[in-house]
Amino acid sequence: MCGIVAYTGQREAYPVILKGLKRLEYRGYDSAGVALSEGIGLSVYKKKGKVSQLEESLIGKQLNALSGIGHTRWATHGEPSDRNAHPHRSSNGKLALVHNGIIENYASLKRELVNKGYSFESDTDTEVLLKFIEDIFNHQSESLEEAVRIALRRVVGAYVIILLNEDEPGTLIAARKGSPLVIGIGKGEHFLASDASPIIEYTKEVVYINDYEIAIVKPEELILKNLGNDKVTPFITQLDMELAAIEKGGYTHFMLKEIFEQPTTVFDCLRGRLDAKEGTITMGGVDPHLDKLTNANRIIMLACGTSWHAGLVAEYVFEELCRIPVEVEYASEFRYRNPVIKEGDIIMAISQSGETADTLVAMDMAKKQGAFLFGVVNVVGSSISRMSHAGTYTHAGPEIGVASTKAFTAQLTVLMMIAMKVAYAKGTIDQKRYLHLIRELDSVPGKIEVILETNEQLKKIAERYKDARDFLYLGRGYNFPIALEGALKLKEISYIHAEGYPAAEMKHGPIALVEEKLPVVFVATKDAYHDKIISNAQEIKARKGKVLAVISEGDDAFASLADETLPVPVADELIAPLLTVIPLQLLAYYIGNAKGLDVDKPRNLAKSVTVE
Ligand code: F6R
Repeated sequence: MCGIVAYTGQREAYPVILKGLKRLEYRGYDSAGVALSEGIGLSVYKKKGKVSQLEESLIGKQLNALSGIGHTRWATHGEPSDRNAHPHRSSNGKLALVHNGIIENYASLKRELVNKGYSFESDTDTEVLLKFIEDIFNHQSESLEEAVRIALRRVVGAYVIILLNEDEPGTLIAARKGSPLVIGIGKGEHFLASDASPIIEYTKEVVYINDYEIAIVKPEELILKNLGNDKVTPFITQLDMELAAIEKGGYTHFMLKEIFEQPTTVFDCLRGRLDAKEGTITMGGVDPHLDKLTNANRIIMLACGTSWHAGLVAEYVFEELCRIPVEVEYASEFRYRNPVIKEGDIIMAISQSGETADTLVAMDMAKKQGAFLFGVVNVVGSSISRMSHAGTYTHAGPEIGVASTKAFTAQLTVLMMIAMKVAYAKGTIDQKRYLHLIRELDSVPGKIEVILETNEQLKKIAERYKDARDFLYLGRGYNFPIALEGALKLKEISYIHAEGYPAAEMKHGPIALVEEKLPVVFVATKDAYHDKIISNAQEIKARKGKVLAVISEGDDAFASLADETLPVPVADELIAPLLTVIPLQLLAYYIGNAKGLDVDKPRNLAKSVTVE
C-alpha cells in the first residue's frame, strides 16, 4: 500500500512524478504529495484526497526542479488529511521523506525523540522515522547515508523510504525492507517507484532493490549497498511490459477493461504451455520440480482475498485429480499460529501483486521450517516470486483495477494446469480424462468471449438490483469458492453487504435472512450436485427470495425457477469456475457503476497490501 515515485536527472521532475503517482494510485488514494528540490530549496506540497486534487491545487505554480519525491497514501497511522500526507519534513526543514510500510516500533522511537525535545506535526510513523534519521545525522554520523543505515538497524517493520536532502539536491537515498522498490535506469537520469508502471515509458532497464539494501541515486550514478555498508552490484533486468497494458484503452474503467481482457489473458496463460493437439502441458517453472510435487504429502495454499479463493478452487481440483491432501490457509492466520509443517510439504503461495505482506511473512516462516515454496504470481520480479524456490507466472499483465478480476482467472488457469500435470505424472488421472480436460481448458478463452456478449443483459440486471441492501451468494463444489468471490467483488465495488456460502450450509443460519427483497445468487452450472442445488433454490423461492442464477446454457429446469438467469457455456465441472466467475464480475461492476461509485478505486482499499 502507498505508492512512491522519485526522479533525479535532467527533466522537470514534477510532471514525471505526478504521472507516476497517477499510475500508482491503485496502491492508495487517501492523500498525495510531492517534495521538489527547487532553486530556493526544498518545497513540499501535499493534499488530502486523490492525486488529481493535488494536481489541481498546484495549477499555475512554477515548479522547477530536476529532482523530487512523491507519494500517494493508504492511511495506516493517522487519518487521511493534509497534515498526515507525505512527504514529511525534518525539524530543520532540510530533509523530506516518503515511506511505504509500517514502522512497528515507532512509539518507542517517538518517546526517545520527544525526550530529546522533538515535536511532531503529524500522527504518522513516517515523521518519527524521519526525525530519528535527522537526529542521528545531526549527532552521530558524517553523512546522511550513514545516518539512514544506523537508523534502519533500529527499525522494526516494513518500509521503502526515499529521502531528499536540500543540501544535495540531485541525490536521492532509498532503502527497502519488505515493500517493493524498482529503479529505472535512463541516460543521465534515474526513476524510482513502487512498481515499474511509472518507469515504463522512459526506460526498460530496471533494478529491483532487495531487502536491507540502500540505494544512493544521482542522475549519473546508482550505488547500491547493504546495511553493513558493503557495495552490492545492481542486477539490471529488462522490463517485459508495454505502455498500452497500463492504459484504459477506451474503456470507462480499468476494471471493465480487465474483465474484457480475460479471453486474451487466459489464452496468454495457456500459450506455450498447453498444447491441445499434442495433448501436453509444458511448464518451465513446474517441470524441474515435478517429482517434488508428485511426491508431496500435502500442499498448503497460502494467500489472501481473491487469491485465497483461487486456492480454494485449487484445493478441490488437486484433491480430485492428484489425490494429494490440500489445505488452504489465510496467510494472515497461518503466520500467527504454530502450524505443523512436515518434510515433503509444499507451500503454494498465490498472489497477484507478489507483495502481500501477510503472504510474504507466512512464506518466510514456512521456509525456515523447511517447506518447499512454490509461487503462483502475476507481477514479474515481485518479492513473492523472488522468495519462492520455484514457481510460475500467471501472465495476466498489469492489473490496475483494485478489485482483482483477470488475475484471478489466470491464477485458476495456472493452478488447473499444474494439477493436471501432477495428476498425469502420478497416474491418478486416466489418459481419456486428461485429454478431455486439456481440450476443455483450451476452449475457455472462446467461452469467456461468449459470456462477455451477455454484457448488456447483465447491465440491465444490475440496474434492477442496485438498491438491494444485502446479497447472498450460494454455490456447491467447485462453484462454492466462486460464490465467495462473487460476494467479495460485490461488496468491494458496490458497498452492498454480500455473503457467500456453500448452498447447503444456508439452512444452518443464513436462510433467516431470506425475504422478498433479498437477491440470492446461485452459482449452479451442471455438475454432480446439480439436483441438490435446485432443491436449495426451491427453498429460497418458497420464502419469496429473488433467485439470480449463473447456470449452464440450456438448463431449463433451473431457469424456470430463477428470476434472472446468467447463462454460461457448458463446461466440465472442474473447469466451470473459470466461466461462472465472469458474469459475477460484470454484475458487481455494473452495480457499482450504476450507483455512481469509483469502481477502480473503492473506498478504503488498496491494490497491493504491503502492511499486515
Ligand atoms: C480483491 C482483491 C484482494 C486481493 C488480496 C491479495 O478483489 O484484489 O482480495 O486478492 O489483497 O492480494 P494479492 O493477490 O496481490 O496477494
